[in-house]
Amino acid sequence: MIESEFIPEPYSGELPEGEVSWSSPSNIALVKYWGKYDPQLPANPSISLTLENSRTTTNLEYSKRKHAGTDFSINFLFEGNERLDFIPKINTFFKRIENYLPFLTEYDFNIRSSNSFPHSSGIASSASAMSALALCLMSIEKGMYPEMSDDFFNRKASFLSRLGSGSACRSIEGPVVAWGQHEDVPESSDLFGLPFPFELHHDFKSYHDAILLVHEGQKEVSSTVGHDLMKNHPYASTRFEQANQNLSELIPILQIGDLKGFTKIVEQEALALHAMMMTSSPYFVLMKPNTLNIINKVWGFRAETGLNLCFTLDAGANVHLLFPDAESEEIYEFIKNELVAYCENGHYICDQVGIGARLNPM
Ligand code: PMV
Repeated sequence: MIESEFIPEPYSGELPEGEVSWSSPSNIALVKYWGKYDPQLPANPSISLTLENSRTTTNLEYSKRKHAGTDFSINFLFEGNERLDFIPKINTFFKRIENYLPFLTEYDFNIRSSNSFPHSSGIASSASAMSALALCLMSIEKGMYPEMSDDFFNRKASFLSRLGSGSACRSIEGPVVAWGQHEDVPESSDLFGLPFPFELHHDFKSYHDAILLVHEGQKEVSSTVGHDLMKNHPYASTRFEQANQNLSELIPILQIGDLKGFTKIVEQEALALHAMMMTSSPYFVLMKPNTLNIINKVWGFRAETGLNLCFTLDAGANVHLLFPDAESEEIYEFIKNELVAYCENGHYICDQVGIGARLNPM
């Protein structure tokens, strides 16, 4: 598909007012997206596990304005509180997607959003938040164009989410989503994420992600700045090649359930992401001492037990621990006994692979 296919024909229906609600999850990348060009297109393909418990729920009330304005009319409440500081972000998002949803200036919007995870946990909330909002807007479009297929709905929701926050395009569906053109992934596109188009080994359908909160609160360098620093990065082209290669290797691993192969690629990707940060100009480090303490403990535990516990990292200090359901009891024991001490205030989140966003009944 190309961008122009997301520009709608004149709508067949009218919607004076209404309310819609979606709950959309976060996702954790196995092969990382780091580096982009306009408009929010990835420098390399990525693939992620969709999460189940870490979610944003967004309610969108809309009512037709008497006269369409030239600007957007948006009210925003986060966890019940008016948050004027979020409005410019939503405005920028609306500006970027206006061409694909021409009704945006015709309505007054009241948005209410809340997260299932603590706001200050340092968990990237942009993926769940942007995808939940994009899905609400798509429900409005579907109301005006009821013939729309589910496939197109999901693709366009992913396409719009991407324009809000790149990785958000991988949150619409699950359990595994690929984003970015890659020769081994049929129909893959830089424009939107697509569910893994092969049979996924059942081990991965119930994989766990225990998110150890090493550092709660805002990170020092935003991912926007980080992506930008890949533009003149001395290792950029090698890194993009590596991501392509790792995705090629991960595809059969996900099909046959090769957990050792999975660990090798996922951990290399996590460290490669942070290696890019540490070698950009200016350089920066988002890991904390306890990030490394946990990694060392994980390696020790794996050597001792042979269990399939591996780690990955986001653009931050928190550690995502990935492991199969069959080994989860022993691994949770290990986390409680040995790793909680490295978490800020002892906090961690128990999550698992999920199948994507849900429309909430009104
Ligand atoms: O979606 P953004 O722009 O916040 O970038 C996210 C980048 C990583 O989380 C570090 C990697 C990824 O692929 O999700």
